[in-house]
Amino acid sequence: MSAGEQGTEGELPERTEWIWHDGEIIPWDAAQLHVMSHVVHYGSSVFEGVRFYATPDGPAVFRLTDHVQRFINSARIYRMDLGQSLAQLSDGIRDVVKRNGLEEGYIRPVAFRGLGALGLHPGKSPVKTYIVCWPWGQYLGTDCLEQGVDVCVSSWNRPAPNTLPTLAKAGGNYVISQLMRLEAEANGYAEAIGLGTDGLVSEGSGQNLFLVSDGVLHTPTLNGSLLNGITRDCVLKLAAHLGIPTREEPIPRERLYVADELFFTGTASEITPIRSVDRIEVGGGVGPITKALQAEYLGIATGERPDLFNWLEPIHQPASEAAL
Ligand SMILES: Cc1ncc(COP(=O)(O)O)c(C=O)c1O
Repeated sequence: MSAGEQGTEGELPERTEWIWHDGEIIPWDAAQLHVMSHVVHYGSSVFEGVRFYATPDGPAVFRLTDHVQRFINSARIYRMDLGQSLAQLSDGIRDVVKRNGLEEGYIRPVAFRGLGALGLHPGKSPVKTYIVCWPWGQYLGTDCLEQGVDVCVSSWNRPAPNTLPTLAKAGGNYVISQLMRLEAEANGYAEAIGLGTDGLVSEGSGQNLFLVSDGVLHTPTLNGSLLNGITRDCVLKLAAHLGIPTREEPIPRERLYVADELFFTGTASEITPIRSVDRIEVGGGVGPITKALQAEYLGIATGERPDLFNWLEPIHQPASEAAL
């Protein structure tokens, strides 16, 4: 099955056989939690979204260490003790992908507060960590990477700084994303762009955002309303490599309507072109800078282009060796 044919965002994940849980590999059906778990009531989880790609040298995880480090940072922000080191979590990711025999797909490390005290204070609720993987295709629908998607500006804002910490990838942050996503769908759009409470462009429900204007690439500053995306970082580095000037700056909404090119970035969404915002067409279809960055990004991820920044971490190499 090619990536384009695998399930997309709105579909059930294809069931795989094995899940990693706190150092052990357990069967899919054994990964259960109690309804009174703290996370069910209070959204106390942190997670990651990671992709691994089939390359000529076997499956490789894209920016594994950076994702695991962000997972650890998210847990740290929420004072959750994972009890697992970066090397142990990285090995866990490799193990679960190997055990399931997958060549490409998506990996979801998730840690949450389980069954303990019944009140809000999470102290007595043990932290449980799981790693799941499954085949996953193009996030915003088959062909979205080639055709682009139609999006709207959401009536929901992204969180204000000092409310939900947006540098943490925490389950609770995604209730806002769900509202954005559902509203977009109800109005016939594939995805929504959120503004910050300052009214400036922030990010999508699960993606960062870039625009191209007069040959310059612009993206919102990390101002406390958006996730510090790993794909965002890839695009900034690839743009520098390709000689495309970049600016991280505050972006007012109306610049979306007059941009030459617009695209989302994210592990799940990869580099997804945006072809209209609020039914206003962007540029003239998928633009040349979007295409060049997409080709470079996917070329590196699939091992077809040189891995200029050492972003690929092979499944069949233990983390301890990878660090040498
Ligand atoms: C809210 C949000 N913003 C941005 C991103 C993109 O981040 P990354 O490129 O690290 O996947 C994601 C996806 O993880 C996200 O959920």
